[in-house]
Amino acid sequence: NPFVADPADGLAALESRRSTAETFGIPLAVLAELTHRCPLQCPYCSNPIELDRAGTELSTEEWKKVLSELAEIGVLQIHFSGGEPTARKDIVELVQHASDVGLYSNLITSAVMLTREKLAALADAGLCHVQISFQGNEPVVADRVAGFKNAHAKKLEVAKWTRELELPLTVNAVMHRQNLHQLPDIIQMAVDLDADRLEVANVQYYGWALKNRAALMPTLEQIEETSRIVEEAQTRLKGTLAIDYVVPDYYALRPKKCMGGWGRQFFNISPAGKILPCHAAESITGLEFLSVRSNHSIAWIWQNSEAFNRYRGTGWMPEPCKSCEFREVDFGGCRCQAFALTGDAGNTDPACTLSPHHERIFKAASDEAAGEHNRFIYRNFAGGTPETESAT
Ligand code: SF4
Ligand code: FES
Repeated sequence: NPFVADPADGLAALESRRSTAETFGIPLAVLAELTHRCPLQCPYCSNPIELDRAGTELSTEEWKKVLSELAEIGVLQIHFSGGEPTARKDIVELVQHASDVGLYSNLITSAVMLTREKLAALADAGLCHVQISFQGNEPVVADRVAGFKNAHAKKLEVAKWTRELELPLTVNAVMHRQNLHQLPDIIQMAVDLDADRLEVANVQYYGWALKNRAALMPTLEQIEETSRIVEEAQTRLKGTLAIDYVVPDYYALRPKKCMGGWGRQFFNISPAGKILPCHAAESITGLEFLSVRSNHSIAWIWQNSEAFNRYRGTGWMPEPCKSCEFREVDFGGCRCQAFALTGDAGNTDPACTLSPHHERIFKAASDEAAGEHNRFIYRNFAGGTPETESAT
C-alpha cells in the first residue's frame, strides 16, 4: 500500500494528525482536481459538462496554501487529478510541496503528457503512487475512445517507466459496452505491466457519460460475463494483482453508497477552488459551493456549509429511504444521479429498485444497451463534439 505511513514520519506525529482529523471529521484522503484541461476527450469523463477554464484555476501559491491547510487539519493523502494534472506546469512543485507538508501523493493521470524526465522529477519530489487510465488493451479501440492518436502506446511506455522508477502502479480501466469484450486482455495487460492494482470501473452515468449513455450502456449479459471474468481473475491472481470492481448500478438492486455518503468521508477541490462533496456535485443546480478563496477555512466549509449539510446523514431523506432498513448502508445512493435522472437531488437514487422512477429509467437503459447507437460525443470545452464517421 503506497499510502502506509513511512515509519520515519514518526508515529506520534501521525497519531496527532489523525486525532485532529477525527475532531473535524475530516476525510483522510482528498482529491485535488488541479485543472480541467486535458488532451484526451473521453466520452465518459466524470468532470462537469461546464468545465472550469484555465483562467479560473487556482495559482501555484493558492494550491500550496490549500495543501498546507489540508495537512494541518489532518488529511494524510492527496490525489492529484483533473482533467490532466500534468497539464499544470507546476505539477512537480505541487508534489514537492505535498511531500514537504507530509501528504502522501497519488498522481491520477492519462499519462500522455509525461516524459521520462518529468516522471523522474515527480518521483524525486516524493510522489508515492501513479494511477494510469487505459481505454482498452490495444490502440484501435483505446485511441478511438480517448479521441487521441497514439494515446495507448504512450500509456504503455509511461507505465513501464513508472515501474522502472519503482513507483507503485494502478491501472484504471473504465469499462462500457464498446470495450468490455477486451476485459480478459486488459487484466493480462495489467499483469504484464507489473501493476499492483487494477480498477475495473464500469461507467457511472452522470455528466459526460449521461450524454453518451446510449453509446456506452452495456447489456445485462455483458455485465454478468464481466462479473464472472473478474471473480475468476481475482482468485487466480491473488497475491499478484489486486482487482477492484465497480458494478454499474443500473443493473444492481440497490444503489452504490456514493462517496461513502454525502459529506461523510470525502471531498474534492475543483480547479477554481470550490470544495465539493463529489466530483459531479456542480451539476446539481441550486446548491452553493464555497471556495477556498472565500473567507472560510476548508474545515469550516466541510463542517458548516449549507451544501455539505443538505444531504448529510439521513434527516433529509424522503420515502422510501426514510423508513428503509438500508438507509445507513447506502445513504440513499447518489445525489448527482438522482438530480440528473429525476431533476431533484433530494429524491431516492432511481438506481434503487424501490424508487418510483426505477422502472422507467431501467427500461430506457436496457433499450439503449440493445440499440445500435455507437458514436460518441467527445468531451471538450466547447460542450462536446460528435464523433464523425471518419473517426470510427
Ligand atoms: Fe437505499 Fe433508499 Fe433504496 Fe433503501 S430505498 S435501498 S435507503 S436507496
Ligand atoms: Fe455526486 Fe454520487 S457522484 S453524489
